[in-house]
Amino acid sequence: MTEHSTQITEDPHDAGRPDRNLALELVRVTEAAALAAARWVGMGEKESADQAAVDAMRLVLDTVRMDGVVVIGEGEKDEAPMLYNGEQIGDGSPPEVDIAVDPLEGTRLTALGLPSALAVIAMSERGTMFNPGPIVYMEKMAGSEEIADLLDLDRPLRETLKLVAKRKSCDIRDVMVVMLDRERHEDAVKEIRETGARIRFITDGDVSAALLAVTERTPVDLLWGIGGTPEGVISAAAIKCIGGQIVGRLWPRNDEERRAAIDAGYDLDEVLDRDRLVAGNDVFFAATGVTDGDVLEGVRYEGNRGATTESLVMRSRSGTVRRVQARHDRAKLREITGERYG
Ligand code: FBP
Repeated sequence: MTEHSTQITEDPHDAGRPDRNLALELVRVTEAAALAAARWVGMGEKESADQAAVDAMRLVLDTVRMDGVVVIGEGEKDEAPMLYNGEQIGDGSPPEVDIAVDPLEGTRLTALGLPSALAVIAMSERGTMFNPGPIVYMEKMAGSEEIADLLDLDRPLRETLKLVAKRKSCDIRDVMVVMLDRERHEDAVKEIRETGARIRFITDGDVSAALLAVTERTPVDLLWGIGGTPEGVISAAAIKCIGGQIVGRLWPRNDEERRAAIDAGYDLDEVLDRDRLVAGNDVFFAATGVTDGDVLEGVRYEGNRGATTESLVMRSRSGTVRRVQARHDRAKLREITGERYG
């Protein structure tokens, strides 16, 4: 993997002047995906919800002025005809960028009408995003800037929780860990409970949980758990923009996956921090809520033709974090997009 330290600028003579903030173009992409997926909320059909989000995202992505390669996408080409890993996207004009997409982060959440489903995209300079290859899961820990230096996957979790409480000048019983509710977390749950710290379980959606954990003054102090590797890279992109830290380590599910990873040159002991997961210095991130959550409101319908969306639009180089509320005219969108979304 090569590191590019240069930021994405269109014209070298423009150095020193603020340049185009691509996140403002990307938000149209996540809005489209969220509007399309929201039609499927509570319908019990996670594949249809995901497909609707992918189709809508793909439609708008082609209008973005960039030469993008999907590094984190919907999977291998044969199984994912669109937004597959390695696919070229955008209109082909500079800048050359890596793209991570999760058109619907929380397919089950959407299918069941549960909180915190998002449509997400992240972008950074070409060659700067960690490619997780065959490894589906990674162990992750994320927290705000205040506790960034305390995040350590090798130290027992109970010790880290004590340090977090000390740093935050609070009782350990006040500390809250957010984690996916999974059998593989049983030992950690026991260890956390023995310290007296509290747990907020989520059924899905650890990107949203990571955003919550790194944001100061939320009820959550730390994200811990084994979740998707693509979601880890996407979370790292968001954290580069919003601040805080994430550390991760690849977590093969079985010997076959372990062997495949080692054969492909992955170091399974390596601790992957925010800057290793996304090495770029000019990272763009956009996310739009599909269902209401802690971080973003979901899509709301108004009358027969209106809909509103709420999005987070961020850029690491400038450190700007925008919350974008948009009102959409669904009838007009349906006309323009040939019923693809709206
Ligand atoms: P999907 O949107 O692809 O269903 O993923 C949701 C999610 O909960 C992620 O947020 C998380 O990282 C991953 O799935 C956990 O995987 P698993 O459900 O296999 O434990």
